[in-house]
Amino acid sequence: MAAKRAGEKRAPPGKVLTLQWTEGNPGCSYGRMALAVVTGAGDGIGRATALELARRGLDLALLGRTEVTLRATADQAERAGARTLVARADVGVEAEVRLAAATVLAGMGTPRLVVNNAGIAGRKARVEDTTAADWDAVMAVNLRGVFLVSRAFLPAMRAAGVGRLITLASISATLGTAGMAPYCASKWGVVGFVRSLAEELRGSGLQSLAVLPGSVDTPMAKVGGFPPQMSAEDVARVVAFAALDAPDAMNGSAVECFGP
Ligand SMILES: NC(=O)c1ccc[n+]([C@@H]2O[C@H](COP(=O)([O-])OP(=O)(O)OC[C@H]3O[C@@H](n4cnc5c(N)ncnc54)[C@H](OP(=O)(O)O)[C@@H]3O)[C@@H](O)[C@H]2O)c1
Repeated sequence: MAAKRAGEKRAPPGKVLTLQWTEGNPGCSYGRMALAVVTGAGDGIGRATALELARRGLDLALLGRTEVTLRATADQAERAGARTLVARADVGVEAEVRLAAATVLAGMGTPRLVVNNAGIAGRKARVEDTTAADWDAVMAVNLRGVFLVSRAFLPAMRAAGVGRLITLASISATLGTAGMAPYCASKWGVVGFVRSLAEELRGSGLQSLAVLPGSVDTPMAKVGGFPPQMSAEDVARVVAFAALDAPDAMNGSAVECFGP
């Protein structure tokens, strides 16, 4: 954990953190943000998002399957002044998500932000060559994982009466791609989840938004075979906008980005 910064006020675990310590940070227009949960934060967009949120004054709980990569992200975020917690979880496994969420809630309190980033492309194959196992593997992470992680934090966030859930969908949620049917179906599906959740959250003080990037320069883009249109850092800034800057009236929005 990073050393406590001078003048910084920290609430005890279990309490929603409040303003003081981000005041005066010109990069943090929201200013009241405290804890962000980011899934799949060891690589790519998740890692860039975690570091962008740390830069903007948030503490981080990093969830994923591979502790060593999450720890590397956490170390870098701590150098930017964030407190961090790393919790190992496969987002598609209910018991692991429950345990990780309990660890976060007990150790760092209620998140103001959950970023559902963890996702996989799956094996590229025509529909007739796609196995049921290929299909299930993609759905387990990209759909079930988003549901499980969102559900795990929603009760505490609802009780706090403020917060946001940002889900990484994809521009594949608006298109079809040959050889990527499970991935496209999962991303179309997750936008339906985000919008349904947004309707459930009306008037609660919470919002649910999706970010739909085009092709991003991470190993995942190579599976689809698309030339990258933007960096993971470009997407991280869009996620930070959706999380911190976008007005509440954008609840349920699917924010598309195609690169600079
Ligand atoms: N790259 C693109 O072109 C692009 C475009 C649009 C949308 N997106 C979306 O953006 C998100 C991030 O993509 P990316 O390109 O940054 O991918 P990435 O570099 O492959 O990173 C994905 C991260 O998710 C983690 N992860 C995978 N399965 C997991 C599971 N079951 N439980 C927990 N963590 C898991 C991975 O870590 P481990 O493997 O170590 O668990 C990794 O840290 C995904 O939802 C993706 O669909 C990507």
